[in-house]
Amino acid sequence: MPIVPQGLYDRLVAVRRELHRYPELSWQEARTAGVIAKFLHSLDIQHRTNVAGHGVVAEIPGASKVPCVVLRADTDALPIQEETGLEFASVHNGIMHACGHDGHTTMLLGAAVLLSQEKDLPAPVRLIFQPAEEKGTGAMAMIKEGVLNGAGLIFGGHLDRHYHPGTIVVSEGPVNASSDNFSIEIIGQGAHGARPHESIDAVVVGSLMIMALQTIVSREIDPARPSVVSVGQFHAGTAPNVIAGQARLEGTVRAQDPSVRQQLLSSVRRIAESIAQLHGAKIHIAVTEGTPPLINQPDLASIARRAAIEAVGETNVLPLKTANMGAEDFSYYLEKIPGAYVRFGSQVPGREGYPAHSSKFDFDEEALAVGAAYYAAVAKIAGRQLRQQAATT
Ligand code: NI
Repeated sequence: MPIVPQGLYDRLVAVRRELHRYPELSWQEARTAGVIAKFLHSLDIQHRTNVAGHGVVAEIPGASKVPCVVLRADTDALPIQEETGLEFASVHNGIMHACGHDGHTTMLLGAAVLLSQEKDLPAPVRLIFQPAEEKGTGAMAMIKEGVLNGAGLIFGGHLDRHYHPGTIVVSEGPVNASSDNFSIEIIGQGAHGARPHESIDAVVVGSLMIMALQTIVSREIDPARPSVVSVGQFHAGTAPNVIAGQARLEGTVRAQDPSVRQQLLSSVRRIAESIAQLHGAKIHIAVTEGTPPLINQPDLASIARRAAIEAVGETNVLPLKTANMGAEDFSYYLEKIPGAYVRFGSQVPGREGYPAHSSKFDFDEEALAVGAAYYAAVAKIAGRQLRQQAATT
C-alpha cells in the first residue's frame, strides 16, 4: 500500500539509507545537513543552513499574513557500535542511527516534496531539521536562533517499534516524560579498612541513600502517576582495605506531571540530606534540569488525529498503549507555541526485541511514506485553521 507515489517512496528509502550509513553525533551533523540541503535545493525550496550548529530551516510559501506551520525533525545519531548487519549499516565506527532520526529527517524531506507540489497552501510551512536531540539541547538552541518567529503551530513525531507499520499513534495528554539529572557528592571520612570506627564510610552512606531513594516512587508518589528515580552511577573508593571518604552518585528522575516532577526532585534532596545527617556525612547536591514533560493538548491532538486519518485511515490511527517515560526535547517548542507530537508505527518482524538505542535497532521503511503523508496533511489542516484565525482577528 504505497501511500505516496512509488517513485517518491524509492527516493525516500535511498535518502534514509544514505543518512543511516553516515550517522553523526549530536552537534556534529555537518554531512547530514549537507544531504538535507542538497535535497531541498533539488526542490527549489528556500532554506538556511548552519542554524544552531548544523540545523537546517526551510520555508515553503503559503497564504500571506498567516503564521506558519512548523514541522520538526531531529537529525543526530548515538555513540553505539551498530550490529544490525544491514547492507547500509553505519560506516562510522561507534556511531549509529539507533533512534531512527535518519527516518525522521527523511519523512520531513518527503513532506517537502509533497508540499512543494501544492499550490496555494493555506499557511506557509517551515521545516526545521534540528541537531542534538539526543543531548536534549538542540531544540532550545534552535529556538534561540528564532525558528519559531512568526510560527503559529508546530508538529513532530517519533518512530515506535511497539506499533505496526502503517499506523500512527495519536494521544491527548502526556506522551513523553520530563528528564532531570541529579548528582550527590558525599563527603565522609576515609580510614583503614580494619578500623571502621575511625571512618565515616561514604560507600555505606551512599548505599543507604540509593536504597532510600527507591522509596520515593514506591511510597511517596501516587501510583496512578508514572514516575521514575534511577541512580545510574556510584563512584567511590580506591582499594579493598581503604574505607572511602568520598563518593558520588548520579541519577535521573522522570515524570509526566509538572507537580510530580517537583515532588521527585525535592524528595531526592530531603532523603539525601537526611541520610547524610544520620551518619555524620556532608553532601553537595546538584540538579541539572532537563526537558519538561511533553503534553498534547486535546485541541491540538485532534488536529494531529485528523491528519493521521487522512494519511493512513481511521482504523490505523491508534491511542498510546502505555506511558512513555523517555524524554524528548520537542517539549521546549511546546512551551512556546501550541502543537502536537505523534508516533509512527515501525515494527520490524523479528526485531521486536531491539528497542531504540540498541545496537540492533531498525525500523520498517513504510513508516517513511506514512510520516511524509502525515506531515503534509497536518501542515494543510493546521494551516487552514491558522488562516481562519488570521481572517477573524
Ligand atoms: Ni529519538
